[in-house]
Amino acid sequence: MTAIILDCDTGIDDSMAIVHGAGNGARFVACTVTHGNVPVHVGARNTVTVLDLLGLSDVPVHAGAARPMAQPLLTAEWVHGQDGLGDAGIQASDREIAGDLAAAEIVRLARLHPGELTVVAVGPLTNIGLALLLEPRLPELVRGIVLMGGAVGVPGNASELGEANVWHDPEAAQLVIDAPWDVLLVGLETTMRTVLPDEALQRIATSPDPRAQFVWRILHHYLGVYEPMFGRRTCVLHDPLAMALALEPELATYRLLRAGVELRGERSRGQVVADLRGFDAPPTDPREPGVVRVVDVLDVSTFHERFLRAM
Ligand code: BDR
Ligand code: CA
Repeated sequence: MTAIILDCDTGIDDSMAIVHGAGNGARFVACTVTHGNVPVHVGARNTVTVLDLLGLSDVPVHAGAARPMAQPLLTAEWVHGQDGLGDAGIQASDREIAGDLAAAEIVRLARLHPGELTVVAVGPLTNIGLALLLEPRLPELVRGIVLMGGAVGVPGNASELGEANVWHDPEAAQLVIDAPWDVLLVGLETTMRTVLPDEALQRIATSPDPRAQFVWRILHHYLGVYEPMFGRRTCVLHDPLAMALALEPELATYRLLRAGVELRGERSRGQVVADLRGFDAPPTDPREPGVVRVVDVLDVSTFHERFLRAM
């Protein structure tokens, strides 16, 4: 089992990441929630709903940042539905949210279990950035961080160049990249390779498993969002891939890059800019501030198989 703090903005693919983790050896120590796909209180409600549906009612959920550090709040209901779960009429859990100071909770848990926890961050990085401000030793206290974010050398999704999780809070993302830890950046350059084959969708659609039925219900809206891009009803699995690589890093090979976030550009603010030129020797220390790990080769079919077995 891998002990995980999941920081999320649940969200259709965040929900699928929780399903993936629950079925593939994640032990959720806590879920912390940020603004992003939906306002933070909606994301927190969705997070308890998904956990309860999986029988994980003992996993505490803490709400956190209600807005980004240095720009107004923007949400993405057009991607995830007004309720963040595809407007499929999912019955919300009425479980109490454990707290509303997510960043402090991340620090508390990291101090309590030094060297044991992996942070999986699949929303804007405001909570993680705040946690780093509260506890600059956070990188030493956790095993590592896997984050879904960025679009290295490929187009963005929230803007022409910006991937949503970084674009929603570029300053926070820069804090995370500049901290001395091994940041595995699972960006669109990788997640866009995970397009679900029709047979996989068919298996989800026809499975009697309640987890598959939940995923199939929330997927309807998401498949519609991706239809113009792929010319058929399918989708990619952004957040589940970050979860999968946190649990099973052997699903991919990696390389290190120097990178940073564009904080000023009029059209490029929120872009992850990486040095892909190849003139200088590549970095060798993943903990060097400003160095990120990105995926090179990904075993997509094994990843899909792991995703399906979780339901
Ligand atoms: C990321 O943005 C959100 O819409 C998804 O939940 C995912 O975390 C993809 O860019
Ligand atoms: Ca997300």
